[in-house]
Amino acid sequence: MKFFIKTYGCQMNVRDSESVAVLLERHGFEGADNESDADLIIVNSCSVRGKAEDKAIGKLGILCATKRNNPDRIIGVMGCMVQRLQESLFEKIPALDFAVGTRRFSRVPAIIDLISSGQKHVLDVGEEDENFESLSGHPENSLSAFVNILFGCDRRCAYCIVPDVRGREWSRPGERVIAEVKSLAEHGVKEVMLLGQSVMMYGRRNDVWPTDYVSPHGFVEPFSRLLEAVCAVDGIKRVRFTSSHPSGCSEELAEAMQQLPKLCAHLHLPVQSGSDRVLKKMRRGYSVSDYREAVQRLRDARADLAVTTDVIVGFPSETEAEFEETRAFMEEVGFDNSFIFKYSPRPSTPAADWDDDVSDEEKMRRNKVLLEDQQARGTRINERLVGKTVEVLVEGPSRRNAARWAGRSGTNKIVVFDPVEGIKAGDLVMVKIDRAMPQTVYGRVAAA
Ligand code: 5AD
Ligand code: SF4
Repeated sequence: MKFFIKTYGCQMNVRDSESVAVLLERHGFEGADNESDADLIIVNSCSVRGKAEDKAIGKLGILCATKRNNPDRIIGVMGCMVQRLQESLFEKIPALDFAVGTRRFSRVPAIIDLISSGQKHVLDVGEEDENFESLSGHPENSLSAFVNILFGCDRRCAYCIVPDVRGREWSRPGERVIAEVKSLAEHGVKEVMLLGQSVMMYGRRNDVWPTDYVSPHGFVEPFSRLLEAVCAVDGIKRVRFTSSHPSGCSEELAEAMQQLPKLCAHLHLPVQSGSDRVLKKMRRGYSVSDYREAVQRLRDARADLAVTTDVIVGFPSETEAEFEETRAFMEEVGFDNSFIFKYSPRPSTPAADWDDDVSDEEKMRRNKVLLEDQQARGTRINERLVGKTVEVLVEGPSRRNAARWAGRSGTNKIVVFDPVEGIKAGDLVMVKIDRAMPQTVYGRVAAA
């Protein structure tokens, strides 16, 4: 049987889809190159904004319609939206075969067996995945890999559905993470991205660390210790992590940034708003000045640190003046990149009870203003790289123009350059930058 997984949403979802794909392969399924060749299609869904759910539901409707000509086809849905909508998904999409929640992915092969033996509308939204470690498989031949370190989220930001759909915060044992990274390195992976909703909370809620571990740098915080241990794995050249919260930007993390050269000089630190009143109403747990200090602490440790962010525009009661505060703060911090979202009320979150009083038109306008600011700022920041040499992890021919090659800098910029003899994917090369765009810089190889 051939399968295809269509993924919506964040990097956590991309990782979950990979895990399920490897699990299915181990159970004798074969990956299809596209959905039309597949006998089994799974949509991995996201609930963070209403639009993300609408897309997944629309897609499932279209896929289920193809069953008319292909009655044996199995269509399922997994992830956040399942956790939120549960049985009602089968009312919305009657031909849907199964739905599996965020903590039951290891059950997917068994669920497909149930469907194949004639069961209909199988729903699995249990709380615990006893077989979770069976999900640690990775696709072959990749240069860069996502590694889960923390699940769920115990923050309660007023707008956010994530704690409802991903459950309580829980960290994976350090040994498991390290074993996974070692195995990846043995399979040729050069870069790992450590994943969690709020990675700096790693190990704060449950015990994760073997008692006999001695931190060479004397780190005490579990997250810094984990970074240190991951950086120590032979063959791994770069370590990244996402996503973060200002409360975790400690002196010790700054120390780790300074002491661990494999740790990339990039921080994705969602700010959401630049207004203290709005931040408070969002229940983000920091003020503008806390945020400013958090960034400064890490920049003091790593002068070249690139900082990217998420912003919500049109949060209930956000005024024009407060929006302008956000705008000014983004300029002050000098974000290398930003992801702007129009506020979308999510059922059962505190903010859903508040009047969604910024019109869609106005949200769209604020969104556009911030995007335009970011384009200009991105170019300006990247222009500072012109004439400088940056280290690039080579990915291979560029998507736009195969005659040129592309890779990423430690600061997560796409770097496009002319290939030189002997160069291959996975190499670290030095590239001298001669031109800058908002998201991309161009240059020539200076040294391998
Ligand atoms: N409406 C709009 N954007 C949201 N985000 C989270 N919840 C909502 C919502 N209800 C954004 C935040 C978060 C990013 C992943 O999605 O900016 O950082
Ligand atoms: Fe949502 Fe806040 Fe958790 Fe981020 S930290 S996922 S915004 S609840």
